[in-house]
This record gives sequence, structure tokens and C-alpha cells, in this order.
Amino acid sequence: MPKVLILNGPNLNLLGRREPDIYGPTKLDDLETTLGSNAPQGMELSFFQTNHEGEMIERIHQLMDTPVEGIVINPAAWTHTSVALRDALIAINTPLVEVHISNIHARDAFRRHSYVSDIALAVIAGCGIQGYAFALETLNQKLKG
Ligand code: DQA
Repeated sequence: MPKVLILNGPNLNLLGRREPDIYGPTKLDDLETTLGSNAPQGMELSFFQTNHEGEMIERIHQLMDTPVEGIVINPAAWTHTSVALRDALIAINTPLVEVHISNIHARDAFRRHSYVSDIALAVIAGCGIQGYAFALETLNQKLKG
């Protein structure tokens, strides 16, 4: 059974309350529940969200000893800032899909650069929270070979 870890970066714990015009009305808990019950057949999901960069990096390091077959990550603001996050993701060498709820290319100029996109299997931006489901489908196709 392929295991997939869904990682969410800073401020995404506020989904549903934070700038709902951009990020929509759904809370992170509800998103995780929906993803869990609609995951591609046979896929086992786990979830992690943190507002602390070091915690995120340490969670990624754990995958060295307890690997998963795929990662879906919305790195949020760290997308645009974190070489450390990029290096951790490279270190664990696991297929990953980068998700952004909003279209980062249609917003502030500083959001257009991502430290993750070139190491991702795919990048999904601007599809709202459906982007996470698309990411799981993409990983599922990839893992099936
Ligand atoms: C985001 C886009 C980022 O620029 C922003 O910092 C976020 C969320 C998105 O999902 O659209 O926190 O990753």
C-alpha cells in the first residue's frame, strides 16, 4: 500500500479563516478528512502541518528512516524563501508534488519564484484546495509506473 505524506507549511493551519477570498472557506481539518476519504484506492495518507521551519525539516528527515512513497507539499511562504527546505527535500529523494491553493504567478512578484518547483514531479497552482486531490492522482499515476 503506497504511503503518501501531505505536508503543509506556515499559516495553512488558518485555512478557512485566513484571506478566504484567496484560500477559500475550507478548514485544514476538513480538507484532510476529505482527502483521507477520497484518496486513490490503496493509498495510505498521513498529514503534517507546522508553522516552524525546523519542525518541518525534522519531519522530512524522519522519512530517511521511515520512508513514504510520495509527498504532497504546500510549502506556503517557505516556497519563496527556504533553501533549507529544498535541501531537506533533495536529501530524502522521494517523488513530490508541489501544491499552491492560489495561482502564485498571478500575485506578488516575490511569489513567482519557488525553491521547490524544479525538484518536483509536478506543480499545481491556482486550482484551490482541489489541487491536493490532483496531486494525489498525479502521484498515484507515477507510483503505478
Ligand atoms: C500558498 C502561496 C504562498 O505564496 C503563500 O505564502 C501561502 C500559500 C498557496 O497555497 O497558494 O501561504 O502556498
